[in-house]
Amino acid sequence: MNGKKVLITGADGMLATDFADVLNEKSDYTIVRLNRQKLDIRDRNAVSDVMNQIRPDYVLHTAALSDVDYCEENRAHAFRVNGHGTENIAYYTQKIKAKLIYISTCALFGDEIKEYTECDPVVLKTVYARSKYLGEEKTKEWCDRYFIVRPGWLFGGNKNHKRNFVYQRYREALNHPEIHSASDQYGCPTYTRHLSHKIIELMETNHYGVYHISNGGSATRYEYVKKIVRTFGLNNKIHPVDSGFFKRKAPAPRCVMIKNANLSIKGFGLLPDWNTAVEEYIDRLKRELP
Ligand SMILES: NC(=O)c1ccc[n+]([C@@H]2O[C@H](COP(=O)([O-])OP(=O)(O)OC[C@H]3O[C@@H](n4cnc5c(N)ncnc54)[C@H](OP(=O)(O)O)[C@@H]3O)[C@@H](O)[C@H]2O)c1
Repeated sequence: MNGKKVLITGADGMLATDFADVLNEKSDYTIVRLNRQKLDIRDRNAVSDVMNQIRPDYVLHTAALSDVDYCEENRAHAFRVNGHGTENIAYYTQKIKAKLIYISTCALFGDEIKEYTECDPVVLKTVYARSKYLGEEKTKEWCDRYFIVRPGWLFGGNKNHKRNFVYQRYREALNHPEIHSASDQYGCPTYTRHLSHKIIELMETNHYGVYHISNGGSATRYEYVKKIVRTFGLNNKIHPVDSGFFKRKAPAPRCVMIKNANLSIKGFGLLPDWNTAVEEYIDRLKRELP
């Protein structure tokens, strides 16, 4: 028992839920889970009060507006939460000398089809990307001891999580014999439980910095959806389409594949292949489904 205290923001979210479960299994930590009702990160005084009362050793900051299209149409809200809300967290985490783990995003790059490393310049195409990157800048501005984690396309949590891509595709497949998926969008599907294990390993070190973290390998959205549907044992016809097929508000980048270069350089092990991760998660989900 190391008795360290971990405060989690946005605690009802998909990643936060799995992170708390993984941390709980280790039973070494005291976990303080604060959802939006308990701590709205836009409220500077509330952030100050909470940090001073709880005095955590680590702050896992997952709270965000994570819907890219919503952010595109609600720019002020996106910057207030993802940018300035993160600044509030960073400022008061530094004041109490805790370590900050800020969950950023892989969606900071452009349309060139390649694996982006932590050294690649960002290409901020969407309001979501700009607001999350502002969060990174504020983290670096205020904190000495920070980990900025840029995860791949996340899946995990429970079936009620609105960002649960795997469960949503399952529901879609149950209701539509034919489904469409973009074959010109590239990313790295990443299981929130696997990511959580790696974050815990990382946060216990002093290897501060920016980390790309994803499951191994990469896929188009089409390949990802096909894997999900087939792993559920369903035979829907899946049509590969251009991303223009879907009307979206945000000009999302075509390629968000990330290379976990910093993890490798610092000698950390890499996460398992994404196909294995999808299978592991669907096994879990099947046990939870009625
Ligand atoms: N999902 C992905 O594919 C993906 C990929 C890369 C990075 N990320 C990043 O990873 C993190 C976790 O993502 P996720 O998929 O777990 O997202 P999520 O399920 O949407 O969780 C985010 C949580 O933040 C809360 N929140 C929103 N506004 C808030 C505020 N003003 N104060 C406090 N909490 C607030 C939300 O609460 P309400 O629902 O009640 O509003 C939600 O519970 C986010 O920072 C996201 O940007 C996500």
